[in-house]
Amino acid sequence: MILPILKYGDPLLQRVCEPVTMFDKALEVLAKNMVGTMYAAPGVGLAASQVGVLKRLIVVDVTAGEKQGQLITLVNPEIINKEGEQYEEEGCLSIPNFTGRVRRPYRVIVSGKDLQGRERIVEGEGLLSRVFSHEVDHLNGVLFIDHLGAIKRDIIKRKIRKKVRAGEW
Ligand code: NI
Repeated sequence: MILPILKYGDPLLQRVCEPVTMFDKALEVLAKNMVGTMYAAPGVGLAASQVGVLKRLIVVDVTAGEKQGQLITLVNPEIINKEGEQYEEEGCLSIPNFTGRVRRPYRVIVSGKDLQGRERIVEGEGLLSRVFSHEVDHLNGVLFIDHLGAIKRDIIKRKIRKKVRAGEW
């Protein structure tokens, strides 16, 4: 099932998500729907809060489904190590058609659990590091525009307000 993706302005996107404690069928279904939603967009990552569920769950595939075996589903992900830096253009399915350069670690190590509750440690470099950082931010109610300078951020916010008024958001 493809779920509607919340857009900037929805207060749920700015909330801190709760840790997952039940590794049940409902979690599996949510993850499956999030994967379908991410691929349909298409996008390279999605956090549960973007579909209105305030749980710490992310799905990531830096190939957007182009290559098999690249999908990573992480429950209660936590960045436990960061190295280096990258400063690249970034976007978000909840802020469509806007991008901005965001400073992110070049490499991260992320700990979390799979859908069965088993411990997982994943390493990401380059784009994967950026996507992990971006998605974990979502779980803390942080969006990429929060990392931009005030001027750039205000320009984007103003353009969004204009779109809202025009009924285009
Ligand atoms: Ni995003």
